[in-house]
Amino acid sequence: MPRSGIQLTEEDITGIKADAIVNAANNSLLGGGGVDGAIHRAAGPGLLAECRALGGCPTGEARITKGYNLPAAWVIHTVGPVWHGGSQGEPELLARCYRNCFALAREYGLKTIAFPAISTGVYGYPKEEAARIAVREARRALAENAHLADILFVCFNSATRLAYEKGLAKT
Ligand code: APR
Repeated sequence: MPRSGIQLTEEDITGIKADAIVNAANNSLLGGGGVDGAIHRAAGPGLLAECRALGGCPTGEARITKGYNLPAAWVIHTVGPVWHGGSQGEPELLARCYRNCFALAREYGLKTIAFPAISTGVYGYPKEEAARIAVREARRALAENAHLADILFVCFNSATRLAYEKGLAKT
């Protein structure tokens, strides 16, 4: 499969037909607002039932479920750090979210994965710093996993898209 590497798009992640879409969840994995709420609404009740059986997810870790009514076959749930100013390990925890999502993509042999801007909404992570971490980890994942073809960063507003465009511009 030809690799297009990292791409940006500005749309609702629930409509994306990637092998997996990533959910910016909370530690309970029982749904919430933001992209978490949108994904659960679009996936239907089966997603919540499967999540309930997972028993939660620590910050920085990731869990995978089926996609149910979503066009994506899988949902990878990850819990980003809440921003407390940057001196409580937030950058490392956010990086771990991406690494753990990529580890599951490798384990499940996924070729395409779409991410929202994890932690930059309710959790308050500054968009440009979060995008820089996301782009760095995506480039590392592409270098380490030849099976991974496409990584899509799904921006839900122009401010997020701008932050990712700046993150991609930096080598
Ligand atoms: N598609 C793509 N991106 C979306 C969508 C959507 N349908 N809805 C929201 N977003 C974007 C937001 O604009 C933001 O850029 O996802 C990014 C992450 O924002 P949040 O969803 O608020 O996630 P986060 O900041 O990680 O906070 C997680 O919010 O929804 C709750 O249960 C969730 O407690 C958890 C917390």
